[in-house]
Amino acid sequence: MTVLELLGIKHPIIQAPMAGVTTPEFVAASAEAGVLGSIGAGYLSAEQTRDVIRQVKMRTDRPIAVNLFVPETVEVGETGLQEAYEALRPIGEKLGMASWEIPMSKSEFDAQIQVLLEEGVAIASFTFGLPDDAAVRKLKEGGLVLIGTATTVEEAILAERAGMDAVVAQGKEAGGHRGSFDGELQFIPLDELLPEVVEAVQIPVIAAGGIGNKGQMDRALRQGAQAVQIGTALLAAEESGAHLLYKEAVLNAEEGSTVLTKAFTGKTARGIRNEFIERMEDAVIAPYPYQNDLTKAIRAEAAKQGKPEWMSLWAGESVETSTDGTVREIIERFL
Ligand SMILES: Cc1cc2nc3c(=O)[nH]c(=O)nc-3n(C[C@H](O)[C@H](O)[C@H](O)COP(=O)(O)O)c2cc1C
Repeated sequence: MTVLELLGIKHPIIQAPMAGVTTPEFVAASAEAGVLGSIGAGYLSAEQTRDVIRQVKMRTDRPIAVNLFVPETVEVGETGLQEAYEALRPIGEKLGMASWEIPMSKSEFDAQIQVLLEEGVAIASFTFGLPDDAAVRKLKEGGLVLIGTATTVEEAILAERAGMDAVVAQGKEAGGHRGSFDGELQFIPLDELLPEVVEAVQIPVIAAGGIGNKGQMDRALRQGAQAVQIGTALLAAEESGAHLLYKEAVLNAEEGSTVLTKAFTGKTARGIRNEFIERMEDAVIAPYPYQNDLTKAIRAEAAKQGKPEWMSLWAGESVETSTDGTVREIIERFL
C-alpha cells in the first residue's frame, strides 16, 4: 500500500502537527487541499483534544491525524526549579512581572489515546518517544494508522519495531522541538538521515526538516521518502494560530536566523534567534516539561504586550522561504 492510500491523501504532503499553531481551520484547510491535516495536541488535555477533533470534523470529512507528545519521566528537585525560575526573573521584570504563576502541566496521554479511539480519528502520530505495546495494540484494534518520529536511524528502527506504520525522518533543519528519544541528541541533516533511514526500515518514510519549496520536496521524494512533512512553510498562513508578530518574524526572517535552544521549554528546539534565547545562553534551565511551565506566563505576557523578543518563535532552517497566503495557496506552491 502506498502512503497516499495509507493516509487517504491526494498529494504526498503532511501538514506538520504544530502545537499551538494548528487551529481547526488550519487542519481542515490542509485536509481539504488534499494533504494530511494534523492536529498538534501535545499540550492539550484529553477533553481539549476531543473538542479540537470535533471542530475539525465539522469542517472536513477527510481523514486527519492527531499528534501526541509521548510523556517522559524526569526528576527535578526544588532547588533546580528555583534556580531556573531565578534565571528567568530579569526577563519577567522587563515585562513588568515581579513574580508569576507556574501552572504545572500534567500529561493526559492515556486519556488522549482513549479520545482518539472514541472520536474515530484515522491517524495518530507521535513525537518525543513511542507509545508502549498496550497503547499500540489498542490503537491498531481501533483501526488507526500510526506514525512515529525519528531523528536517527536507530530511532527509526525502534519505531518500526514498536509497530509504527510509517516514520517521520526529522532532519536537524526542522522547526520546533527535536523528536529525539533514544541516546545522545544528534543533529543529522535531512540529506544524510533520509537515505539511511529509507535503507534501514521497510515501512514508508516521511521526510521532515527544512522543506520550503517544491524543489526541496522533489529532492526528498527522489531520495526515497514517500511523503514530506512541512511545518515552517505553513506557519504564516492565514488560518495558522501563530501570533501576528510571530508570523511577521517568520515572513521577515533572513537565511541563517534560526538556532537550537532549550531556553523556552527545557527540550532542544529550533526557532528564530531573539533576545530571550541570547540572554538564557548560559543560564540554568530546568528539564522539559518544567522549563515550559516556568516560561509559560512570560511568553503569554510578551505576546499580550506585543514583544516578540521574549516569545518563542519556532521555525526551521528554511524560514526565509516562508510566504503568506491561505493554507491552500501555500500548498499549491508545492504541487
Ligand atoms: C511551530 C512548530 C511547532 C511544532 N510542533 C510539533 C508538534 O507539536 N509535534 C510534532 O511532532 N512536531 C512538531 N513540530 C515539528 C514538525 O513536525 C516538523 O518536524 C517540522 O516542522 C519540519 O521542519 P520545517 O519546519 O522546516 O518544515 C513543530 C514545528 C514547528 C515549526
